[in-house]
Amino acid sequence: MGIWGWPWGRRGLSGFGSASTAEDIAAGIDASHLTAIVTGATNGIGKETARVLALRGANVIIPARTLESGLKVKESLAEEVPSSKLHVMEMDLSSLDSVRTFAGSFNSSHKHLNVLINNAGIMACPFQLSKDGIELQFATNHLGHFLLTNLLLDKMKSTAKETGVQGRIVNLASTAHRRSDGKGFDLNKLNNESNRKKDVI
Ligand SMILES: NC(=O)c1ccc[n+]([C@@H]2O[C@H](COP(=O)([O-])OP(=O)(O)OC[C@H]3O[C@@H](n4cnc5c(N)ncnc54)[C@H](OP(=O)(O)O)[C@@H]3O)[C@@H](O)[C@H]2O)c1
Repeated sequence: MGIWGWPWGRRGLSGFGSASTAEDIAAGIDASHLTAIVTGATNGIGKETARVLALRGANVIIPARTLESGLKVKESLAEEVPSSKLHVMEMDLSSLDSVRTFAGSFNSSHKHLNVLINNAGIMACPFQLSKDGIELQFATNHLGHFLLTNLLLDKMKSTAKETGVQGRIVNLASTAHRRSDGKGFDLNKLNNESNRKKDVI
């Protein structure tokens, strides 16, 4: 479906459109043999994704910025899906160290990873630098997920080899980039506050 069909819920080639729910899409699927990581599952789209994956039987890992927020969402999802297999771990995507720690501990504690859903994101927040000195939106939405994906790729490849089930990596994004000024993205000005204020959408 192109962007223009989105407001009307028009269906695309997959048979689904913006009016389809996660439950519609996963109807009839048995995911009990799958392990999935959903970033940003403490809220919004990520929480619903984790709920429906759990409803279909998947083993779902919720990396949360704080264990407290992760455990809270686990509790609320477990009330809705009593059979859910949810595991909370700590990870702050805006910190490269935190992503490395999460990936290291996931890789040593879990045999398989079939699905990685890079969903967490922030937008249009006040200008801030991450712990690593990188503009916070870029650090969180892009660099954190880039590093995470790279650190989990070997696990996903070995899982696919051992189980014969092809893995999936899903990157959530927005169509908001279509509203940029068309000049592109200047990596040299990434951490320049005055520049970002002009470019922010
Ligand atoms: N909603 C929309 O209309 C829309 C439209 C286009 C694209 N999207 C994309 O869809 C995705 C989900 O959007 P949403 O509206 O569901 O977002 P949301 O409700 O604001 O939730 C964002 C999630 O990301 C997590 N997060 C933020 N910073 C993080 C960090 N440093 N480390 C780890 N987790 C972090 C948040 O955790 P906390 O609970 O700790 O804050 C929260 O769980 C985003 O990538 C967004 O760009 C959404």
